[in-house]
Parts: sequence; structure tokens; C-alpha cells
Amino acid sequence: MTISHFIYNFTISNITSLKFIVDQQVEDIEMPENLKLNTFLDEFHSDCPHPECNFGFYGFAFGQSPFPVPQPIQDALIKNADKGAYAAVPGIPELRHAISKYNRHYFKMDIAPERIYVGPGTKELVFNLLEVLHGTVILPTPAWLGYLPQIRFLKKNYHMLPTRANKKISPVDLRKLALRLQDRQKILILNNPHNPTGLLYDRLELEEIADVCREQNITVISDEIYALTTYDFSRFVSMGKIYPEGTFVTNGLSKSHAAGGYRLGYVIFPQHTIELREQFKKILATEYTAVSTPIQHAAVAGFEISKELDDYFVATRNIHQMMGDYTYHALGAIDGVKTTKPDATFYLLADFNAFADDLHKIHITTSQKLSESLIVHPYHTAIVGGDSLVLERTDFSARIAYVDYDGVLVYQKYLQNRPKSSSERTEFVRNNAPKIVAGIDMIAEFFNNLKRDNIAKLETKKSSLVATD
Ligand SMILES: Cc1ncc(COP(=O)(O)O)c(C=O)c1O
Repeated sequence: MTISHFIYNFTISNITSLKFIVDQQVEDIEMPENLKLNTFLDEFHSDCPHPECNFGFYGFAFGQSPFPVPQPIQDALIKNADKGAYAAVPGIPELRHAISKYNRHYFKMDIAPERIYVGPGTKELVFNLLEVLHGTVILPTPAWLGYLPQIRFLKKNYHMLPTRANKKISPVDLRKLALRLQDRQKILILNNPHNPTGLLYDRLELEEIADVCREQNITVISDEIYALTTYDFSRFVSMGKIYPEGTFVTNGLSKSHAAGGYRLGYVIFPQHTIELREQFKKILATEYTAVSTPIQHAAVAGFEISKELDDYFVATRNIHQMMGDYTYHALGAIDGVKTTKPDATFYLLADFNAFADDLHKIHITTSQKLSESLIVHPYHTAIVGGDSLVLERTDFSARIAYVDYDGVLVYQKYLQNRPKSSSERTEFVRNNAPKIVAGIDMIAEFFNNLKRDNIAKLETKKSSLVATD
């Protein structure tokens, strides 16, 4: 063996036996629930022996807008493919100006472009805000599944704020909690319109929350990524308007422009935050330098005010509303099921707790087990269970997303012939979103079977008791 062979073999054998030690901070965090679900579905389908499993599943779990990315954004991306230079950390000036105008037009807010920072999605920006802001986080529940892993990753102090029956933050409960917290600064995560309930906070509700925030020195991160999906858009009010001195508003392209994969979001800083913005800039510069330059140019087209985009927002929110109305009525028609009535987004929160006794009888004791039981043959129905929404593990609530249809086709069909009456709207859903219709029927069948099987078991037990009597 030559020396070089020896060195080669020695290196290879050492490489193959290398064991990497993962940093404890990463070991301690869990995979965010939506990604866990992806893995679970893949595993389930590769293990499932029934031919029906090839069909896939009724997808109520994934929160992604199915519509085409608006044409002006696509065109601008192609046109700017040659932009290879790094962009400025807070974003290219054209984009910050376009976002400023967009906010004036849609949200009636006058924001100087300097108060706007661009990042790779609002999820990252919320994370960056949690990095820069000292304080205990107040997380109202149920909550979007993205926040808690970030809070835990950053090892921030946090407190849940369970909402009451109306599923909205109670200002009284917020004040009570804030009074108990020692920190000089507290951070409330407000998500409006809300994932998973689809509910919208009106002006008065926001004002009441803002009063408590002023009194208790609570900073608000207002995640408004679903703002433009609000079905009656005239009802939407940004927390940035109500509490401008204490609110960080985040928004982006992901939901309203069906462009989650572009990874572009922005944050509006509160007034008088020059020093804080400099600190924030250090974080962005350290972590990702800037958002991809061609994407920023494409986003300029997305935030421009035009009739084409306006029509797109109107059409897409109308379709979301139709699907939401159908889902709300069809689920509500199942005896025992209660749901929120969405004002925006493409989600609602379904409450299956009326079946708790029946579920316990077949050893389904957690929302996770309920989700797993619904995904297996013969139901093939994917939902997001309560524990992924930061509810109690034993709470049989679930998020139902109503976007499982071909969005490109449905969008075209809607433009060709807009359904007007309520029967036409129902017909539209039946014809164009058959998986939503069949998936809700599956949920109904699951609970019918559950009740029927439990009754049958009880009957058998009774008759065997009679027989032994
Ligand atoms: C409430 C909420 N905030 C933020 C996000 C992530 O948005 P982005 O794609 O801009 O990171 C989502 C995506 O599902 C969401 O539902």
C-alpha cells in the first residue's frame, strides 16, 4: 500500500465513522407541527395496503392559497432575473416605497418607507422581532402553529392567554395576565385576521386591547398576513392604526398574493424607532443579508396599485368566502359539531368535543389521536388537531383549511361565470371543489360510525348481561 492509499483509506474510514454532535438548543426544539404532519402523511401512504390509499387524502390540513401568482408578479420576476447584486439590508428602495403606497391605499396608513423592513417571509420577521425585543411573550390560544417553536427556540419567557368561548382575546384577561408578569416589557402576538379561527377583530375590539397594552406597556406584534383575504374588506382595520406607537405590523405576499414560495414579507415599525431599527438591521445583516434581489423586484409589482391586482383580490377572497360558507354550513350540519364562522382567511376552527365520551370509549384521548384516526383508511382526511394549535392535548378541536381544489382552474371558472345566488354558490363549490365536499362527508361518516359502533357495543354488552342473568 502506498502512503497516499494509506492516507486515503484512513481518511475514508474516519469520515464514515464521524458522529456529529447536534447543538443542544436545536435538540430541544420540536419540528413545527405542519412539517411533522407532512412526514406523517408520507409515511402513512407508503405503509397503507389498501388500493384506495393511492388516491391520497382529503386535505384540510395545509394552509396554502391555491390560486395562481398574479401575472404582474410573474412577469416582473422574469424581467429581473438578471439582478445578481446583493440588495440593501432593509430592502430595495423601490419596494419599500411600493409597500408604503400599498399601505396607504388598502389600510389607510401613512408609513414612511424608512419604517418598512423587508424579509424572507413574515415568519422569519416575527422571529427576528422576537430576537430584538426584550420581554415576556403573551401568546393567545388557539394560535397559528408557527409561533411557539420560535418562542421556545429563542428560550423566551412566555405565557399562554387562552381565549374565551368567542375565541378572541379578552382585554380583561389580558390585563390580569400582564399584571402578574414581572417584565418591564411584554410582547403580545396578535394575529388578525386569525389563523386558525378565520375570525376578524373589529375596531372596537382592537381599541380595547390597545388600551390595556398602553396601560401595561405591552408591545404588539400584529401578524396581518391574511388582511386582504377579509371577505368584507371594508371591515378590516390594522392594529398599526389603532396603536401606532406600540405595534409592529407584519404582512407579505404569501396569502393575499398566493406566493408563499416567493418568501417575501415586510414589517412596519412603530413610530419613533430609529434606534431600534438600527439594532434590527444588525440581526438581518447577520442572519441573511437581504431578500433575493429578483424577488424584491417581483414584489414591487405585487404591491403596486392596479385594477388588475384589485380584481384579483376581490375574486380570490370571494372564492375563499364561498368555500368557507360551504364548509361552515356542511360541518355545522353534523350533529354535535360547532365551528367558528370565518370572516377572512381560508380556515375555521371545528369543535368536536361533543364526541369526547364516544372518542374515549375507543381510546382516542387526544386531538393528535383524533387526527391520526381520521387520516387512516377508510377516511383519508387530514386535519390539524388542537394540540398543534397550542390547545390542550385533550381538546378535540381542529383547524379545517378549505383550499383543497385546483385554484388555477377554479379562478378561471369563477371569472367566466360568477355565481350570484346562494344556491349558485353552493353549486359552484359542489362542481369545483369535490374534495372539500367529499372530505366533509367523510368527517360526518367518521362521527356517525363512531356513535353507531359505540351504540352497537353497548347493545351487545346489554344482551350478554341479559343472557347471563
Ligand atoms: C398566521 C400566519 N402567519 C405567518 C405565516 C407565514 O407567512 P410567511 O409565508 O410570510 O412566512 C402563516 C402561514 O401559514 C400564517 O398562517
